[in-house]
Amino acid sequence: RAVKLVTLLGSLRKASLNAVVAKNLPALAPDGVEISALGSIGELPHYDADIQASGFPPAVLAMGQAIAEADGVIIVMPEYNYSVPGALKNALDWISRLPETPFAGKPVAIQTASPGMIGGARAQYHLRQIMVFLDAQVLNKPEIMIGQAAARIDAESGEITDESTRQHLTKQIAALARMARQTRHSA
Ligand code: FNR
Repeated sequence: RAVKLVTLLGSLRKASLNAVVAKNLPALAPDGVEISALGSIGELPHYDADIQASGFPPAVLAMGQAIAEADGVIIVMPEYNYSVPGALKNALDWISRLPETPFAGKPVAIQTASPGMIGGARAQYHLRQIMVFLDAQVLNKPEIMIGQAAARIDAESGEITDESTRQHLTKQIAALARMARQTRHSA
């Protein structure tokens, strides 16, 4: 059967460059790979153990279930102050508390886009550290760090205008799908 991947988007704003990347992934996926979007991280309340004690919010449960059912997750996010955006960290904190531990052993790929030169690289290493505790299997290569993203992505038309960026994204999706097939095979 097809490899099913889901995207987790780390930006909330409408004209997000990272949102354009995430929205283009289904069309860039190689044959046999299906990609769909998880719900918005903006739907989740701030993590609070007291809320958790009275029951996980439905949006957290839905996100956790969709991750558990997927063969892999692609996290697409901006870099905020050299790190992971707070709203995304909040979502990961919620999901980490689910007893089903949906990220455990899950193949995960990281993509960042930034108008700056470094393309969000520094935030990727913070995200990798977080994913150690969640026990995810984070893909090493190819890395996707889209620098000078405003010149490669047209937020208005919703297109990735740079052909080499599109090709690179397809390569990473294929690598994640390969990892997901191997994980599924050995499960
Ligand atoms: C940024 N930005 C940014 N860029 C970067 O390359 N490194 C950084 O550390 C930061 N830090 C940062 C902090 C905060 C609070 C904001 C709001 C922005 C710029 C950021 O990359 C830019 O706004 C992107 O366009 C945000 O991603 P989306 O929303 O376009 O996907």
